[in-house]
Amino acid sequence: MAEAPAVFIGILVLCCWIAVANAEYKIYQDPKQPISKRVKDLLGRMTLEEKIGQMTQIDRLVASEEVMKKYYIGSMLSAGGSGPPPTASPQTWIDMVNGYQKGSLSTRLKIPMLFGIDAVHGNSAVYRATIFPHNVGLGATRDPELVKRIGAATALEVRATGIPYAFAPCIAVCRDPRWGRCYESYSEDPKIVRAMTEIIPGLQGDIPANSRKGVPFLAGQQKVLATAKHYVGDGGTTKGINENNTVASRHDLLRIHMPAYYDSIIKGVGTIMISYSSWNGVKMHANRDLITGFLKNTLRFRGFVISDWQGLDRITSPPHANYTYSIIAGVGAGIDMIMVPYNYTEFIDGLTSLVKNNFIPMSRIDDAVKRILRVKFTIGLFEHPLADYSMTKYLGSQEHRELAREAVRKSLVLLKNGESANKPLIPLPKKASKILVAGTHADNIGNQCGGWTIQLQGQPGNVTVGTTILTAIRNTVHPETKIVFNENPHPGYVKSNEFSYAIIVVGEPPYSLTFGDNTNLTIPDPGPSIITNVCASVKCVVVLITGRPVVIQPYLAQIDALVAAWLPGTEGQGVADVLFGDYGFTGTLPRTWFKTVDQLPMNVGDQHYDPLFPFGYGLITEPVRGN
Ligand code: GLC
Repeated sequence: MAEAPAVFIGILVLCCWIAVANAEYKIYQDPKQPISKRVKDLLGRMTLEEKIGQMTQIDRLVASEEVMKKYYIGSMLSAGGSGPPPTASPQTWIDMVNGYQKGSLSTRLKIPMLFGIDAVHGNSAVYRATIFPHNVGLGATRDPELVKRIGAATALEVRATGIPYAFAPCIAVCRDPRWGRCYESYSEDPKIVRAMTEIIPGLQGDIPANSRKGVPFLAGQQKVLATAKHYVGDGGTTKGINENNTVASRHDLLRIHMPAYYDSIIKGVGTIMISYSSWNGVKMHANRDLITGFLKNTLRFRGFVISDWQGLDRITSPPHANYTYSIIAGVGAGIDMIMVPYNYTEFIDGLTSLVKNNFIPMSRIDDAVKRILRVKFTIGLFEHPLADYSMTKYLGSQEHRELAREAVRKSLVLLKNGESANKPLIPLPKKASKILVAGTHADNIGNQCGGWTIQLQGQPGNVTVGTTILTAIRNTVHPETKIVFNENPHPGYVKSNEFSYAIIVVGEPPYSLTFGDNTNLTIPDPGPSIITNVCASVKCVVVLITGRPVVIQPYLAQIDALVAAWLPGTEGQGVADVLFGDYGFTGTLPRTWFKTVDQLPMNVGDQHYDPLFPFGYGLITEPVRGN
């Protein structure tokens, strides 16, 4: 009989042990469990407060460890220029991201937050990062495989700063160059934009062949989650006015602006960002038919849908006029994560009360949170929430700079080369007695990178590390060739000097978003007078640094050779490589070059098509040996 209590105690101990073990084991924390089970398990444990926190994305400016913890914030971003000081090291970025992450990891369920950044042409907000040509230049390369490699390099440089999520690529089909974001678009031709979605497997990795269509994918910790943006019709607005109305039949919307989304989804894109613009008068942020109906139900997109910055506010005009309505319309339309980004308590309180009062069903919240958690599990965020310094070496690496240089070479489009094919000016002789280099963009890294570089609007000057076109020319010519740089020479100066020839580099100042909207598309002063002053007295090559075609017809007769270099980024050496014939010109126009702005919009395939240079135009040259 004395054995009975011992057995009883034994059973009791065993039961307690099982209970403790069970309490510690959580399916969602077990990486061996399938993602669907982990999502279900975690969702089942979450309160409404925790769920709404997951749907909330805030900017770094208003974030802190305490805020992350207190409001269960699911995601944060560093919007253009909102980061550590402009010259901060990648280590500083990592420390910053990890700091906020610690706040999220100290919550009850320890759900890591997802940090995102606009890596739209490389990890372009970060000092010393490799800045690749903006998308319009990549469109000119017609080389999706190159663009894929750029995606892979960008992923490494984003991870180098401890960030797992990029708000790229922009797959807009810009149909009017007056749009300030036209350079973020690969082309006016949907076929080219579709091909360039190869950047997605570059960023995220190649999706396995047997994957289910629409399921988000990431190949590992050297890759980043991508965003196809801005869904849909952002590049089709009337007169190219940013965030405006795209007037198009459903057929044209599906034919022009939608196709690249099919490709992105098939390639496993993890997130899709909604456009500020409207389609036939309906704000995309409130378009339930196209977000829930088409994207989620018809295309079976299984990643999450994110709003644009204050995208809900802008559902009403003026913005934020009726935020309660905006939340109902936006979340109701099917947006899963809201880039709030500052006034997060207003959003959290508003959405909570709308759910509690049955204006927004719990099933909608669960759909959003499921998608967000699915993405977080997919990218391994629960297993690797904190970054270490092992990838900082990738930021601005020589290999990536070589890749950017290759991209610059391939993006250049030669529009004119001498009076005739028998008298070409390009390739320029490396050996000459004296060459004039002129223009506002010849020795200016900030100007050659354009917008979305360090700051949101970009900035002229020495903003980051790279090679200016002037330095590149100096690196390339024969050692005995004298280079004279004069940014803005007067006519007398050019006349009184005996130059062998001149290279003029002019163009648009950096800009982004609505600030780039422009109805006249002229080259700003003193660009035109530099062209006129120099070309009147000496043989000249004009290199245009612009995000789009600009008014050039009035000067064309004076110009001996004309090159569209778009916004090449930090590796200006690529320009000299081609001007002096080490490589040939291979780029072709990704856009129609108009004669006068009153022809706009004018796109390839239009009935009335009378361009200065048609879509696809570009003179091809052979490399020369021993120049
Ligand atoms: C912007 C842009 C979008 C960007 C976001 C975050 O306003 O429209 O492309 O990803 O804000 O910076």
